[in-house]
Amino acid sequence: MGKYLNLKIIDYYFNGLGISESENKNYYVPFSLKNEFIYAKTINRHKGFRIAIPIEIKKSSEWRKDSPCEYYLACGACNFMHIDYNHQLEIKKYILLKSFEKYNINIKESEINLVTDKPLNYRNSAVLANKNNKLGYHSLFTKNNVVNIKNCIVLVPILNNVLKILQDKKSEINSKFTSIRIKSCGNSISLIFELTKRPSLFEFNFFNNLLSQINSKKVSLFYCVERTEPILYAGNYWFKFKFKNINYTVHPNSFLQRNFYIYSKIINYLKNYFKDKKFKHCLDLYSGCGMLGLSLIDYFEKLTCIENNIYSVLSAKETVKNNRIFSVNIIFEDVATCINNYDFNSDIIILNPPRSGAYIETLKRIKKIKPEYVIYLSCNAVSLAWNLSFVIDRYKIEDITIFDMFPQTSHIETLVILKNKK
Ligand SMILES: C[S@@+](CC[C@H](N)C(=O)[O-])C[C@H]1O[C@@H](n2cnc3c(N)ncnc32)[C@H](O)[C@@H]1O
Repeated sequence: MGKYLNLKIIDYYFNGLGISESENKNYYVPFSLKNEFIYAKTINRHKGFRIAIPIEIKKSSEWRKDSPCEYYLACGACNFMHIDYNHQLEIKKYILLKSFEKYNINIKESEINLVTDKPLNYRNSAVLANKNNKLGYHSLFTKNNVVNIKNCIVLVPILNNVLKILQDKKSEINSKFTSIRIKSCGNSISLIFELTKRPSLFEFNFFNNLLSQINSKKVSLFYCVERTEPILYAGNYWFKFKFKNINYTVHPNSFLQRNFYIYSKIINYLKNYFKDKKFKHCLDLYSGCGMLGLSLIDYFEKLTCIENNIYSVLSAKETVKNNRIFSVNIIFEDVATCINNYDFNSDIIILNPPRSGAYIETLKRIKKIKPEYVIYLSCNAVSLAWNLSFVIDRYKIEDITIFDMFPQTSHIETLVILKNKK
């Protein structure tokens, strides 16, 4: 049984939830804004947090706006859509500063640059869950519930078109389907159907009809049973697209950035930043399918990529081979183990770890390699600040920019350019 409370939002937590205090306890309130008065109901603790869900906004912030999405609050994909877009960016800046403060890193608000692109229709991939005749995204705190989504306004139009066709054919998407992974770049589309059992004639007919309705020549359709390797049903096994003059060949299971509009701006920003530079050796750590290092290849005599996902490694190798780029070495290994075991002599390092950040040992090793520059691209403000606290004695923050990769959500993508103090 939940408790009903009147709460005043006094601050933001690092994940974007509003913080409130009542009876000497902290409550974390989704979909709220600072200084709002909210009548809320507590739910079961979520990951150790006392969560209170707003029932009524008694006094609302000047930054609150009506969400343009009909599924907002029910769907768990976006959590900032009730906030004026410019104010979303202010909150992200505030959370970034607060994370830096937590680890005693001195940065002034005026030093943080902001780069934005499309606030909607930017996302080039999604996982649609299928449950109880509903096809869409999981709800926020009750992950077992699926919200039926007919149109997602943060998805790129080509994927919304796919979503619409899937919804029209929903009666054929039976309980054998657990989820559908959809991905696009340009007019290339990849669809992966996750099934509980091998498909029968019924599902094959469904696939054929679906393919005839999707108006793109570049569709790849896969299915997999119980999370095994995707089996190609139609189209190309490799997902192919062009980005910044390189023709990429990517495995269906490989990681890809979710917002190519802003990713393109990150690359342009770096190209401009290093425009008069040429480096001898770049080490691209957590390289995925190599897109960061390869987009900047003209700035390096040699590039070494390190990645522990075999599908991403195969993708990077395939791309390098097809584009006849000979100055690249791709290593399939854990980053920490690899940089400990080899003597790299790199004058620039790219660091783009997963949300949890890089290991401390990796950061210590980077300091021993002593590159002139470290380019750190992070998708989590707290792990970024924590990681920086281990290198800040030797490296100066030359540039810090939030690139709004995930508008309408509290996720913060930050690019930090570090220069060796020498
Ligand atoms: C945020 S993605 C970066 C991908 C790439 N830099 C890009 O721009 O597309 C993080 C990557 O780190 C890889 N990864 C995670 N832990 C790793 C580890 N311990 N060693 C090597 N790679 C790892 C993941 O597979 C993923 O491809």
